[in-house]
Amino acid sequence: MIGTDARVLGRVVPAATLAITMLGLSITGGRVSVTYAQATPPQRASSTALPDTFGFGRPATPDAIAKLDIDVMPDGTGLPPGSGTVADGAQTWGRFCRGCHGPEGEGGSAAPLVGHDPSGRPLTVGNHWPYATTLYDYINRAMPRTAPGTLTPDQVYGLAAWILAKNEIIADDAVMNAETLPAVVMPALGRFVPDDRRGGPEVR
Ligand code: HEC
Repeated sequence: MIGTDARVLGRVVPAATLAITMLGLSITGGRVSVTYAQATPPQRASSTALPDTFGFGRPATPDAIAKLDIDVMPDGTGLPPGSGTVADGAQTWGRFCRGCHGPEGEGGSAAPLVGHDPSGRPLTVGNHWPYATTLYDYINRAMPRTAPGTLTPDQVYGLAAWILAKNEIIADDAVMNAETLPAVVMPALGRFVPDDRRGGPEVR
């Protein structure tokens, strides 16, 4: 305990006090208190002007932007030309998808995509996806898992058709393209509401 041995204190304290005070510690009556230096708050730059260049990178070319600009909206905005039938999709499914998602889309090492249990167990395209166009967006950008971006528009339309037909949402002879895919009404559409929150008190 500090302060019980006057002899030790007498010899030790002057040097120790000096060193400890610099760290923001002080010893008073045998009690140690610690104060922390206030960190200086980060200062905002006085001017918002940015330099013309940061000295790295290169201008984004229209071609490079087009490769990234592949999102497809619920109303079909962004869908490319092309088309695919359920039969086309069955073929592509067998080659690129069944290994992970199961021969009938029932799931395997990866999620099930087929199933209409309205309780939402398990979650599938059939009982949980509000928009059919998300199939195009997701498959085109992310699947097959090991080689995303390699499918042609026709293949992706065919896969969307096959998955929708397996879920009994469209007929087996339906053709999916930029007009027909956004027109598909998904069973789970009513399970979602538009997110109109603005980040204020209405957030719940
Ligand atoms: C190597 C394995 C693999 C292959 C092959 C594969 N996927 Fe997937 N897929 C996944 C994984 C992993 C996920 C993420 C969800 C999960 O954890 O299962 C996923 C997710 C999906 C989803 C979203 C599921 C959801 O409800 O969130 C769709 C749709 C999908 N894949 C379609 C396809 C299609 C179509 C093909 C064939 C072109 C394909 N996948 C090939 C592994 C694979």
